[in-house]
Amino acid sequence: MSRGRFITLEGMDGAGKTTHLEWLRAKLAARGLALTVTREPGGTALGEALRKLLLDNHDPRHPDSEALLMFAARREHIAQVIEPALAAGHCVLCDRFTDATYAYQAGGSGMAWERVAELEQWVQGALQPDLTLYFDLDPAVGRARARQAREPDRFEREKQAFYERVRAAYLRRAAEHPRRIRVIDAARTIPEIQLELEGIISSI
Ligand SMILES: Nc1ncnc2c1ncn2[C@@H]1O[C@H](COP(=O)(O)OP(=O)(O)OP(=O)(O)O)[C@@H](O)[C@H]1O
Ligand SMILES: [Mg+2]
Repeated sequence: MSRGRFITLEGMDGAGKTTHLEWLRAKLAARGLALTVTREPGGTALGEALRKLLLDNHDPRHPDSEALLMFAARREHIAQVIEPALAAGHCVLCDRFTDATYAYQAGGSGMAWERVAELEQWVQGALQPDLTLYFDLDPAVGRARARQAREPDRFEREKQAFYERVRAAYLRRAAEHPRRIRVIDAARTIPEIQLELEGIISSI
């Protein structure tokens, strides 16, 4: 049996990852492909527990600690879910993966880029997604989708700077891995984006 394809979806909150993942799931399933759909952090019991810890708790913490927890969850996810699914010939669709650690912990929170690379090497070895769909969106547009636009307060302006750094880091990853990472302009309408995705996945 031939090994399955590993596809990850990336982008900031509200960029459309879940929306397009559900659409991709339906499209690929209709073609008769066996699919495994999963997400990070999460995908395993340990991963989901770490997800809760990481996403629900907003106490300040060192970006290295955050990245170590992300990679602990990822190690488990690869061993329990991703590798077995790929080996069984499944196409794996994963909502966020290591590019998000570069974007948030390195880009956003200032962790050393090379440290993420060391952890990536350690935890993943040669495993990389075959294709990454990065939904690129101005963070201000993402916020406007989520709530009514209004003047940002000081805290929100700081957050705005954080999200600009996250976006810059995603774009740096895309520039470094141009064959793997497809930058999708997520400011367009959903049907326009799906038309582009249709072309991208036609060869899968
Ligand atoms: N291109 C688009 N144009 C307008 N609205 C969109 C577009 N894409 C997604 N949306 C809407 O924006 C909201 C957020 O989309 P979605 O949940 O897919 O984002 P996400 O990337 O999964 O976010 P999160 O990281 O928070 O899970 C949803 O209400 C969705 O319908
Ligand atoms: Mg989502």
